[in-house]
Amino acid sequence: MSKAVISNDAAPVLEMRGIAKAYPGVVALHSVDFSVLPGEVHALIGENGAGKSTLMKILAGADTKDSGQIFIDGKESHIDTPQEAMRLGVSIIYQEFNLVPYMNAAENIFLGREPASVVPGLIDFGRMYSDAEKIIDELGVALDVRTPMNHLSVAQQQMVEIAKATSRQSRIIAMDEPSATLTDHELENLFGLIRRLKAEGVSIIYISHRLEEIFEIADRVTVLRDGELVATKDIAETNRADIIRMMVGRELSDSIPKIAAEARDVALEVRNLNRAGVLHDINFQVRSGEILGIAGLVGAGRTEVARAIFGADPIDSGQIIMNGKPVTIHSPRRAISLGIGLVSEDRKALGLVLGMAVRENISLANLGVLSRLGFIKRRKEREIAESYVKDVLIKTPSIEQAVQNLSGGNQQKVVLAKWLFTKSKVLIFDEPTRGIDVGAKTEIYQLMNRLAAQGVAIIMISSELPEVLGMSDRTLVMHEGRIAGELSGKDATQERIMGLATGEQ
Ligand SMILES: Nc1ncnc2c1ncn2[C@@H]1O[C@H](COP(=O)(O)OP(=O)(O)OP(=O)(O)O)[C@@H](O)[C@H]1O
Ligand SMILES: [Mg+2]
Repeated sequence: MSKAVISNDAAPVLEMRGIAKAYPGVVALHSVDFSVLPGEVHALIGENGAGKSTLMKILAGADTKDSGQIFIDGKESHIDTPQEAMRLGVSIIYQEFNLVPYMNAAENIFLGREPASVVPGLIDFGRMYSDAEKIIDELGVALDVRTPMNHLSVAQQQMVEIAKATSRQSRIIAMDEPSATLTDHELENLFGLIRRLKAEGVSIIYISHRLEEIFEIADRVTVLRDGELVATKDIAETNRADIIRMMVGRELSDSIPKIAAEARDVALEVRNLNRAGVLHDINFQVRSGEILGIAGLVGAGRTEVARAIFGADPIDSGQIIMNGKPVTIHSPRRAISLGIGLVSEDRKALGLVLGMAVRENISLANLGVLSRLGFIKRRKEREIAESYVKDVLIKTPSIEQAVQNLSGGNQQKVVLAKWLFTKSKVLIFDEPTRGIDVGAKTEIYQLMNRLAAQGVAIIMISSELPEVLGMSDRTLVMHEGRIAGELSGKDATQERIMGLATGEQ
């Protein structure tokens, strides 16, 4: 792969000096220096809560710094608002999307700078839609730009967020975990786009927890740990182990610690599940203690299977059988009472009440266990919350912190903790390690192993092939709403999964 040669003596297009930021109870950034050269892809990495998003929000005018300076082209700039950042040519793709749910994709892409019609004050909708289609086509995604955001999948929303930022004439684009929701196919489109932008001299700041991406796309890498700058290095001068050591401050094996399942009884069986246009004749079983992986491309119907089992979407026909008996599940509430949990990929929609404390979110899914005669056992609730915070390594100043104040990866860990607490018999994990750092990933895999050993049947939907291959006892591969095949043992390889996922026989 060719990399543009970037001279290290080129003047930086961006220099952030001594940036500091504290929130109540947390110092997010201690005097961080960060600089970006013209036309470079600069990876910004670190564990969950290291301060990456905070640094980018300060750059984008979405949050204020306590001290420090920002220079653009060597000139000190006071970026106090997102408008000012945009004027200076800085765009950001937010980790937690910033899209208006009831507006459609095109309206979101052009929000605030809609093409003007010849009639003053009116919007040229024809041009807005054709321009939006062009941008979306370039990204190679299948998506109707007239669809309201809340009807798009998380991956499609991510593509709209990317289209919105890259369609502006920006010189610096910060991408905060753009790939977290994407599969390899969409990722290639994103990388194609990044390479084109780079060739035009645009600088990209790229945040991701997937280290292989960093080695594929980045020219330099900056590592943050606990709000401090650890180092900035040329990508050629570092390697995976070095980066992990800089991130976590110790040696860490990032191999997947799978323990093979003991065969037990079938916990859940799905027979001939159909939903017009979405799911076709879905049949499978999952046993207690087993981890069943579901792989496939975005849009293959994996999340839809999960939602159907969980009672979040209606089905047209088919049966769900638990412990040998058919059950009807018309609502998530019913699913939960039957012992089915769903760790959703969309934490805003199904996962969390962002304004509530970590403690409350963890106990929310199972007030039954905690309440007696209508009173919540506060002490028990606190103890359980504390122990989960420790178990899944949630970085928070206390269990009373509002979830919206946690970093993205730590919010995901709260979602996990919430369901671990319900003592479910069947747990469906939809992209469980999305946005989770390398160290905490291993903890989550170990938790899954523990749950499986306790007899929980786990269905794990994942776009990360190493994770699917590493953790699943068996893997179903979906393609266009159908199960295209089942793989296990030696047959389960990346090539076989991709073949089935793309419709090869
Ligand atoms: N609005 C806020 N109020 C209080 N604390 C906050 C707020 N925003 C961020 N923090 C805290 O600041 C620290 C840094 O968070 P940040 O979101 O920058 O981390 P990150 O490196 O992006 O992590 P991740 O990989 O999980 O996205 C965390 O401890 C987080 O809880
Ligand atoms: Mg973040």
